[in-house]
Amino acid sequence: MKQEEPPVLISEEKIRRRVEELARQVSAEYEGAGELLLLGVLRGCFIFLADLSRLLTIPTRVDFITLAAYGPDAAPSGAVRLVTDLRTDISGKHVLIVEDIADTGNTLEALVNTLLAMKPATLKTCVLLRKKECMKKEVRIDYLGFDIPDVWVVGYGLDYADRHRALHYIGSVKAD
Ligand code: IMP
Ligand code: MG
Repeated sequence: MKQEEPPVLISEEKIRRRVEELARQVSAEYEGAGELLLLGVLRGCFIFLADLSRLLTIPTRVDFITLAAYGPDAAPSGAVRLVTDLRTDISGKHVLIVEDIADTGNTLEALVNTLLAMKPATLKTCVLLRKKECMKKEVRIDYLGFDIPDVWVVGYGLDYADRHRALHYIGSVKAD
């Protein structure tokens, strides 16, 4: 089945350069701090985390969690649900949440609060994309890829009804 190609919002080249910059920044800031646990939020993070993790020059571990924030129809449900539990005990560890996108910021905020209760040594957030609305929230993004307008984006791991995740660029689709 052929899928229509969504228009480009952020090119593959731009993403690559920005991820390299983020990796340099993260590597520099955690240099000498010991192991960093990269905690990916599935499924949208999978390509971002794969690229970022391979560019880091510090020792890392990788774990994943699954959250449900939106249904397959791309309509916000409000609630955030922790679907898969961590396999790693994060207490006393340096943890970096790796997330594809912050829209309302609800997911990130809920996740940060849940993880803080597990007493990590440090907890920071690395988010590839941020929509404008998210800026109204108190949630802190320590490493940000790009600010984007309020459109539904796909590609580089992100989906619309589970499609377009494998696109090399970030494209926009009309979510109707
Ligand atoms: P928030 O809780 O409103 O910040 O939504 C965060 C989650 O919704 C993200 O982790 C994504 O999984 C999903 N999401 C929000 N906006 C988009 C989008 O434009 N494309 C794909 N997924 C999105
Ligand atoms: Mg996500």
